[in-house]
Amino acid sequence: MSWYNEVEYIRKQAKKNNEFFSNSLPMIASENVLSPLCREMLISDFHGRYAEGTPGHRYYEGCTFFDRVEEKAMELAKKLFKCSYADVRPTAGTTANMAILKALMKPGETATVLDLANGAHISFGKWGAAGVRGINLLSYPFSDEEMNIDVDGAIKLIKKVKPKLALNGRSVFLFPSPIKELAEAAHDVGAYLVYDAAHVLGLIGGKQFQDPLRDGADVMSGSTHKTLPGPQGGMIVSDPDGDTDEDKSFLRKLGFGVFPGVTSSYHLHHVAAKAIAFAEHLEFGEAYAKQIIKNAQSFAQSLHEKGFKVFGEKLGFTKSHQILLSIGPGKGREASKKLEDAGIVTNMNTIPGDKDPLNPSGLRLGTPELTRLGMKEKEMDEIAEFYKRALIDNKDPKRIKADVKEFRKDFQELYYCFKEGFRGYDYHELI
Ligand SMILES: Cc1ncc(COP(=O)(O)O)c(C=O)c1O
Repeated sequence: MSWYNEVEYIRKQAKKNNEFFSNSLPMIASENVLSPLCREMLISDFHGRYAEGTPGHRYYEGCTFFDRVEEKAMELAKKLFKCSYADVRPTAGTTANMAILKALMKPGETATVLDLANGAHISFGKWGAAGVRGINLLSYPFSDEEMNIDVDGAIKLIKKVKPKLALNGRSVFLFPSPIKELAEAAHDVGAYLVYDAAHVLGLIGGKQFQDPLRDGADVMSGSTHKTLPGPQGGMIVSDPDGDTDEDKSFLRKLGFGVFPGVTSSYHLHHVAAKAIAFAEHLEFGEAYAKQIIKNAQSFAQSLHEKGFKVFGEKLGFTKSHQILLSIGPGKGREASKKLEDAGIVTNMNTIPGDKDPLNPSGLRLGTPELTRLGMKEKEMDEIAEFYKRALIDNKDPKRIKADVKEFRKDFQELYYCFKEGFRGYDYHELI
């Protein structure tokens, strides 16, 4: 192959990927799509520049304009999360978690966590960032019925083992965590409560989920590309009560955890796009988050009525953007493949009791991207019917895929972002 053919090959795959997603139903709970104005920042000259440190305190020249952008991003983040401290430098949610572990823990110390099988994320697991930092991890008990941390058991554990950090990180996150109770127990034993909001950051920013910093969390991390529909990246926020030497030292440690801890230059074009995403979320976040949750609840109800086993039935299935389905022992992979063949993109997921993450028994579904495409409750019921045809009636996936493509024709525009005065382009027609 000549270099030209190689390049064409790659461009063709990107184009096909765009086509695939614009004809499908994207339902991976951690995914979303970028607004045109955020996208514009990603191809700006900020890409590839270096800016270590903080605005005004750089190791490189040429940062005048970027300094203004980073200052603005921090200002907007503080406004969005009603707090006094924001760090927009982490390049991912995982990087934000690593920075916190680096800042607040030493190898060999203990943190309390949720188990992976109960929906925790790998960054707080022994094979992920917590393991890299050499943290000793002890798990909270979990209530399958409530799909939540067993609050009494967790308080007992925190009081008994006196961890350095009590962590709340959940990739399966159907219902708010008992943060007030956990924070009180953590503070009683001199521990910090860390809330990893990777998935639910946009719901919190849109005021439709719990408010961790008000409920007692000392620090909150998150991904900026999930329910908060910005560029791939992470962030850290905190809101200490006072301005004591202890508070200042805590924030200094957090900052030092990010740089030089786990970043060098930190993807400046993404920081600029984060700033725009925060501005968009301040304007549209409340309506967007409300509709995401309404759609998730309505979709869960429709699936339940069509014969699926949906977790959290007693509590209304979900109070977030996610739905968790039990699909049969070890059958998650097969189900997610069948759905992909039918033009529906999801992921297999462990459910309580699963031991083998490679052969899990569930599917995790999310509504953030469908909502951004303008879908509402009525569409959720139609989509549940596609699921029934694919997974219960075992109908021909090709026929369903054709129907999904037809259904998607009416949903090709993006909502909950600035469009006025911007000529824009079809977001999936980038190249
Ligand atoms: C709870 C939780 N924390 C952290 C992350 C990692 O986020 P990122 O992909 O931004 O590194 C995820 C990813 O889904 C997550 O679910």
